[in-house]
Amino acid sequence: MIQHDSTFRKLWDALILLLTLYSAVEIPLRIVLQYAQAGWLLHLDWLVSVLFLADVGLNFRTSYRLKAAVVREPRQVARHYLRGWFAIDFLSAIPFDQIFSGGLMDVNRLLRLLRLFRLLRLLRLAQFMRRLGQNVSLNPVILRMAFLVFWIVLLAHWMACIWIAVDGCANELSLSRRYLRSLYWAFSTLGTVGYGDIVPVTTAQTVYSLIVMILGAAMYGYVVGNVASLLANIDVAKAHFSEKMDRINAFMKYRELPVALQERIRNYYDYLWDSRLGYDESSVLAELPPSLKTDVSMHINRAIIEKVPLFRGASDAVIRDIVVELRPHVFVPGDMIVRSGEVGDRMYFISRGAVEVVSDDGREVFASLHEGNFFGEIALLFSAPRSATIRASRFCDIYTLDKTTFDAVLARYPEFGDQIRAEAQQRRNLTERRQT
Ligand code: CMP
Repeated sequence: MIQHDSTFRKLWDALILLLTLYSAVEIPLRIVLQYAQAGWLLHLDWLVSVLFLADVGLNFRTSYRLKAAVVREPRQVARHYLRGWFAIDFLSAIPFDQIFSGGLMDVNRLLRLLRLFRLLRLLRLAQFMRRLGQNVSLNPVILRMAFLVFWIVLLAHWMACIWIAVDGCANELSLSRRYLRSLYWAFSTLGTVGYGDIVPVTTAQTVYSLIVMILGAAMYGYVVGNVASLLANIDVAKAHFSEKMDRINAFMKYRELPVALQERIRNYYDYLWDSRLGYDESSVLAELPPSLKTDVSMHINRAIIEKVPLFRGASDAVIRDIVVELRPHVFVPGDMIVRSGEVGDRMYFISRGAVEVVSDDGREVFASLHEGNFFGEIALLFSAPRSATIRASRFCDIYTLDKTTFDAVLARYPEFGDQIRAEAQQRRNLTERRQT
């Protein structure tokens, strides 16, 4: 059995896709221009048939994904394929051209149109596009734009091919000039430009022009509508954030907030954008189930786990218990994070930035704390009011841990509490001494 997501299968699918695209371009052209298929063109055509048939064989032996599970059982795989893509894959693999033109049989030219069955493979393209869209490293909007352009170009090519068939008056031109002229007509008609230098003369041409014009008008509307919304969404995070900023600016103006305060609010959002693209991590995490939440929190918060010396010595169990409960906050320079005398209900871990431990009036600086340090533990440990005021001296990314979790962790892992207690006692003595 071949794994549906193995590298071999992916490369094989890419090769088949390339040959499908080649067929989608070449077959209609060959049908209308009726050039002889000789040399490498003939070999390539045989190769396409052989590889398409091989693909049918391989598909009988390739596992597939059913919801969350992968099906590998050969009978089930075969049944799934027979009910699904088999008919299309098989029809597109039959070398109709060789059968009807290779001297085997000389039949009506109409039968040669059976070659178009090969284009049925394009139906598979939607499946491929969907899979490509799931690839997180590609911007989905750019991808959709690329697909849109691809389909437009392919459609114009087909429209040009049909025009060659109905445009009898250009027979004296070389094949390439005839194609170029038709492609020019197709694009100018589909794009609703219509210069009018190539005009329909016969009834067939007029009817066909009408159809392409209607198609072009519909396509034009579709493209304009899509491109506008695609462009607006090209950077979803940015669009979201700009919208939010517009609302906040309007609010600040309406409430006539002082200019300095407005400036601080703007600085806060600028920092939020620079540090996390404006996402509110807690609300994203809130939607996830507990197991995923722990893993995502562990990933997002690994920086803080690595930075805080207290965590570095702690067991995995302590860290997992704490990490999911950590809540991110951003503070701008000058923010009073903790005020002396207040009742404390959480402790703080500095992930980025720096804070100052200051006296009640804010004039005296007792200590500076930075990345990896924690504070706010004294009030929790000793059930006392906050022993000092903490002021942000730079932009800070700070994580908080609420008192309930703090108490639970300490009860469960006393040795972890001992470390915090030792530091707290030392700080408390120092601050008390300075305040008296
Ligand atoms: P808490 O009393 O809860 O709130 C203020 C915090 O400031 C306090 O906990 C300590 O974490 C911190 N703190 C107080 N004094 C000092 C100090 N001398 N050095 C560092 N941090 C301190």
